[in-house]
Formats: sequence, C-alpha cells, structure tokens
Amino acid sequence: MRITVTGADGMLGRAVMSELDRWELTPLTEPTFKLEDREGAVKAITESNPEWVVHTAAMTNVDGCERDLAQAYRINALGTRNVALGCAACGAGLLYVSTDFVFGRGHHTSPIEAWELPAPLSIYGRSKYGGERYAEALAPKHIIARTAWLYGRGGAHFVGAILHRAREGKPLRIVDDQRGSPSFADDVAVGIACLLEGGVPGWYHLVNEGSATWFEFAKAALAMMGFDSGVIVPCSTTALNRPAPRPAYSVLSTFTYTETTGHAIRSWESALEVFLEGEKA
Ligand SMILES: NC(=O)c1ccc[n+]([C@@H]2O[C@H](COP(=O)([O-])OP(=O)(O)OC[C@H]3O[C@@H](n4cnc5c(N)ncnc54)[C@H](OP(=O)(O)O)[C@@H]3O)[C@@H](O)[C@H]2O)c1
Repeated sequence: MRITVTGADGMLGRAVMSELDRWELTPLTEPTFKLEDREGAVKAITESNPEWVVHTAAMTNVDGCERDLAQAYRINALGTRNVALGCAACGAGLLYVSTDFVFGRGHHTSPIEAWELPAPLSIYGRSKYGGERYAEALAPKHIIARTAWLYGRGGAHFVGAILHRAREGKPLRIVDDQRGSPSFADDVAVGIACLLEGGVPGWYHLVNEGSATWFEFAKAALAMMGFDSGVIVPCSTTALNRPAPRPAYSVLSTFTYTETTGHAIRSWESALEVFLEGEKA
C-alpha cells in the first residue's frame, strides 16, 4: 500500500511512520509541506501518489489555538480541507486523526460512541471538527480516527512533564475533575494500521481502554516509576484558569473500532507500564 503521512515528525507521526513501515511511505513535513498553502499541499499529496493519506499534522497547542483563532482554523480546518482536496485530486482515501476535544458541550456520563454528534467547547476542538467536516465532504473515502490524551516516545507530553517535576521534587497541582482516555501513541499507530488494512470508511475512536482523571493518570505514572505521589495535589479545572475550556468528560468508546477490526486496544494502565519501562531503559 502507498501511504502519505502528514506531520510525520510529530509525536504520533513518528509512531505511525514506525508502525506502518511494512508499506511504501512518503512523509510530508514542515517547512516544505505547509497545510495552509492550498496549492502546495495539493501538489505534494498528488505527487506522492498515495492510496491513503494519514493526516496527523495539526496545530496541537490547545491554549495557543484559543489565543489565535485564525491560525487554528487556517491549519486545522482549512489545512485539512487542503489535504482532502489533494486526496480528491488523486483518488486517495483520507484517514484524519481527530480528537476527543470535538466533544465537551454534551453532558456525557458514559463512553462516547464514534457516531455521536460533536459539540466542541474550545477553538482547538472547533477547528478539528472543521477538519472532520472537510474530510467527510471532500475526500473520496474517509476514516475519522479520534484519539485523546496522547503520550509517546520523544514527544512533549503530560507524562513527561509529571516525571520531570517529580525528579525535581517540585509539588504540582493536577486537575481531578476532567475525565478522559489516556492513550499511548504506539497503540494508536497500531489502530491506524488496522483501520487502513480493513479500509472500512467511517468514524472510529483509537484510545486505550478505561478512563482516568489527569490526577489519577499522574498518580499511576508516578507509582509505576517509584516516585512519591505526594508531590502532586488534586485541584479543580477552574483553579488552573487556562485560556481554553476543556471537556469535563470525554471518555471515548472504541466500539466501532473493535467491531470492525476484531482488534481490542489494551487498557491505559498496561500501555502506560510498557511506555514507562521503555523510559527506564
Ligand atoms: N497530543 C494529544 O494529546 C492529542 C489528543 C487528541 C488528538 N490529537 C491529534 O493527534 C494528531 C497528532 O498529535 P501530536 O500530539 O502527535 O502532535 P505534534 O507532536 O504537535 O505534531 C504535529 C505535527 O504537525 C506539524 N504541523 C503543525 N503545523 C503545521 C502546518 N501548518 N503545516 C504542516 N505541518 C504542521 C508539526 O510540525 P512542526 O513540529 O514542524 O510544527 C508536527 O510535526 C493531531 O492531529 C492532534 O490534533 C492529539
């Protein structure tokens, strides 16, 4: 299979490049590939002649999106339109990586199914939802693969930040009133490979099983690494006063993924253990 990967040097992009290496891959990265350059993006995609494009590139700084709405919409919504136009020009399918932040306005209390209607709270969530709409409308075939609370090898992420603070012995307040699906980039990449192999279009959630609050997630990571969890203190979302609003509940259900591929994604605790073992080595 010929696959073009946008954002190939991002945290998830790297995991995807490594997991999909049995196929013929073309990485598209900045500065030569810019999502907001419509003509350039379409040209880069058509020239790579893919059967599928895995679109991971995005403006991922959630608070940064809140501060610069135009740039978030330009990159995440219109940029995805540009990728979808490229797919349309060469007949390729588009696997668009989206986010749990497309949900948040609804009052969910049980895992959200992939077909449920998004209702984002933040500019980041709205811009990624824009990307979903363009992927669905313009690509000849689309897979929307939402993931959440990502950590992985070599990226800047929550787990790394917590461990860094613990090593310094500095106390840290962690939000305990947002519940989501912590997910290991390597496992998400395996899910992407399974979806591409099956080729069944539609909406999927690629997250590790189970749920946690950020505080529970941090506590588990510290315990697994043998640190004293006393360095972290639970707090409320309002106490942190971040620019972007975040969903109180955005746990994603993997039902459509498991039913379609026959593959289950392991629990977030098992995935975190495997990741942290790698960090110790
Ligand atoms: N991180 C999470 O917790 C999370 C949760 C849910 C969903 N997601 C989604 O998962 C995907 C991957 O996330 P990630 O955490 O791996 O992100 P990341 O590490 O920030 O990587 C994003 C990639 O996109 C590239 N990029 C940014 N702006 C671009 C532009 N204008 N044109 C071309 N490329 C551009 C970046 O290149 P430069 O580094 O050169 O700017 C980088 O390689 C994203 O679509 C994100 O929305 C992430």
